[in-house]
Amino acid sequence: MRITILTLFPSVINEYINSSIIKRAIDNDNCAIEVVNFRDFSENKHKKVDDYQFGGGGGMVLSLQPIVDAIKFYKKENSKVILLTPSGKKYKSSFAKELSLEKHLIFIAGHYEGFDERLNNYVDEEISIGDYVLTGGELPALVIVDSIVRLIPNVISKESLISESFEDNLLDYPVYTKPIDFEGHKVPEVLIGGNHKSIEEFRYKSKLAKTKLNRYDLYKEHIKNKKGINNE
Ligand code: ADE
Repeated sequence: MRITILTLFPSVINEYINSSIIKRAIDNDNCAIEVVNFRDFSENKHKKVDDYQFGGGGGMVLSLQPIVDAIKFYKKENSKVILLTPSGKKYKSSFAKELSLEKHLIFIAGHYEGFDERLNNYVDEEISIGDYVLTGGELPALVIVDSIVRLIPNVISKESLISESFEDNLLDYPVYTKPIDFEGHKVPEVLIGGNHKSIEEFRYKSKLAKTKLNRYDLYKEHIKNKKGINNE
C-alpha cells in the first residue's frame, strides 16, 4: 500500500512514522509513506495557503489552489482521497479494515479555521476521529495511518489480530504477566491452570463485562447480533 499525507507540518508526521511498527512496515516494504508539504504547491509569491472567509467570521480558511494542485499531482486511478475534518464520518475499526485494502490513500491534514467547502469536489471521503475539535488534521491522519498499517498482512502477527477490541462489538479481554502476585493484586487463577476451555470462557465473560461497563452501545449490538445468530 502507498500512503501520501498532505500537510503543512511534515516534521510532526515524520517523527511518528519513523519510529516503531510503522517504520518497520516501511523498511520491510509492507507500505510506502510519502509526506508532502502542500505549501510547496502554492502559486502565491509568498507561498500563502490561506485567506479570509467570505461572509465574515474569525479565522482563516485554507485556499483551494495549493491543496487541489497537490491532489492532482499525486492522485492516480486507484487513489482514494481522504479529508480529515471534525465534520466527517466517524472513524471506527470497520472503516480501518476497508481502508487497509486500498492501493493508495491520500490524506489531507489541514490547519486554521477549515477548508474551503468546494474541496469536497476533489475528495472521496471526509473522516473525523471523534467528537472533538483538534488544532489540525495531523494527529487524525496518524491515528488512521497507524490503525491501517497494522492491518496490512505481515506487519504484525496474525494471532495479535484475531482477538482484539471491537471484533464482534466486544472490547478485548484482560491480559496479565509475571509476577502472579503484585502487592496483593493477583493474576486470575484460571489463567495459570492451563485449562483452555476454562480460559476461553473466562476471557469471553471478561470481554462481556468490560464492554457492558465501558461501552454499553457496543454491548447492546453484540447481544443483538448473538440473538440473531441463535435464531437462525
Ligand atoms: N481536525 C480537527 N479535528 C478533527 C477530528 N476530530 N477528526 C479529524 N480531523 C480533525
